[in-house]
Order: sequence, then C-alpha cells, then structure tokens
Amino acid sequence: MFTDDIERTHELTELESIMMSRFANRFYLNREVDPAIVKGILNSARYAATGANVQPWRVHVTAGNAKERLINAISAAHEASPGDHSSEYRYLPETLPEPFASRLREFGTVFFGSLGIGREDVAARAANTARNCRFFDAPVALIFTIDRRLEKGSWLDLGMFIQNVMLAAKARGLDTCTQEFLSRYHAVIRANLPLGPEELVVCTMAMGYGDPDWAKRRPQMPKLPVEGFASFHGF
Ligand SMILES: Cc1cc2nc3c(=O)[nH]c(=O)nc-3n(C[C@H](O)[C@H](O)[C@H](O)COP(=O)(O)O)c2cc1C
Repeated sequence: MFTDDIERTHELTELESIMMSRFANRFYLNREVDPAIVKGILNSARYAATGANVQPWRVHVTAGNAKERLINAISAAHEASPGDHSSEYRYLPETLPEPFASRLREFGTVFFGSLGIGREDVAARAANTARNCRFFDAPVALIFTIDRRLEKGSWLDLGMFIQNVMLAAKARGLDTCTQEFLSRYHAVIRANLPLGPEELVVCTMAMGYGDPDWAKRRPQMPKLPVEGFASFHGF
C-alpha cells in the first residue's frame, strides 16, 4: 500500500528514472563503445562522495586486444582449475542468515528461470556462470580495485563510485553488469594488467550497448518495497 502510494504521487525526475531502469545486463550488442564516452562516465563518477575525501577507487579499463587477452586468460584458468582460485575477500558469509538466504534463492529462481535453465540443469548453470569470464561478451571490461590497507569505510566509498559509473553509463544508453565472481581470478588479472601489489581486486564490470531483445525479456529482480527496509520516525 505504502509503496503504491509513493509511486502514484511521486513524480520521477530524470535521474530517478535512470536509477529505476538500470539492471544487471548480461547480453550485449557487438558494438564498440567510444573511449571518450567511457572516459566521460569515469569523469562524472569521480564526483562520488567519499569519507574524508580519500577517493579510494582505482579502475583498470580494458577493450580490444587487452580485453581479449584478459578474457582468454581468465577463461583458460576457469576451465583448467576453478578450484585453485579464490577471492581475497569474502563477499557473503558461508551461511547466509534469513531473510537474505530466501532472497538469494529467489534470485536463483528468477534469474535461471529467465534463461530457461532448470534447477537440476547443472551443466547449463555452469555454462552460464562461465559467461562471467568473458564479461558477457561486452566490449568494455572494467576492473575495480582498492588499496588493501584501507578499511571497510573506504569500501563503502568504492561502492558509491561504482554506482555512479553504472548510472552515468545508463544515462548514456550503456548497460552494465557488476561482477564479484571474477575477484577470484585476481592473480590472472594481475598477470595481465599492471596492478600494484597494494591493489585488491574487489569486482569487475561489463559495459556496453545492451541487446534490445533481451531488455524486453530480461528478469525483473524483485525489489523490497520501501516499508520492507525503511522506518520513519517523527514524521
Ligand atoms: C557488487 C555486485 C556484484 C555482483 N556480482 C555479479 C556476478 O558476479 N555475476 C553476475 O552475473 N551478476 C552479478 N551482480 C549482479 C546482481 O546479480 C544483480 O545486481 C542483482 O541480481 C539485482 O538485479 P538488478 O541489478 O538487475 O536489479 C552483482 C551486482 C553487484 C552490485
């Protein structure tokens, strides 16, 4: 009821419409992205708020041959011995408490359902997961790192920067998919890109022009209504 009321009465700004139309896109057109656009997106994203203005973000942007070399190396590592690679940080706890575990299950149902992949189809699920290694065939692949000497606070700042990148991209007609999956291949990434020893690979991002056909069929990930996460006091 509450959220319905908001949606009826709250006229969306252009920025809010962009925020609400962004989604994790895993299907891209084979269309190059002008490097000037990517640089412009990063130029806007750098205005993200950051505690004490420490600006902890680092990003390595790859396209063309550099991206090809990287995805070939990551894909080879994934095919050869995926178990030998692990992230330098834990994204989720080993046992996810409720209500988060239920949301994760729901994500799996909606996501694999949208691809027509059944719960028992282990091979199809694995093949889909492997698409991460190719950045879902997007023309631009970004690697986000943070200085490992920093604390959780700076990880917040990095998240805000990444969100800015996603929204600025969307505003320019580009889609994105942020990926924690590839953080496990940090050694392979390091072997292919000039990362400093202090740089910890937090996540990667696929960026490109989304396939318009997929946009029509894409899964709509369930989002909690406002009353599901906010409480108001003194209003
Ligand atoms: C930090 C972060 C890491 C993510 N990692 C992956 C990933 O490794 N692979 C993937 O396919 N999607 C990944 N996603 C996309 C999420 O699955 C997606 O954002 C979520 O299901 C909500 O859907 P929506 O973005 O379409 O609203 C990630 C998103 C974020 C923000």
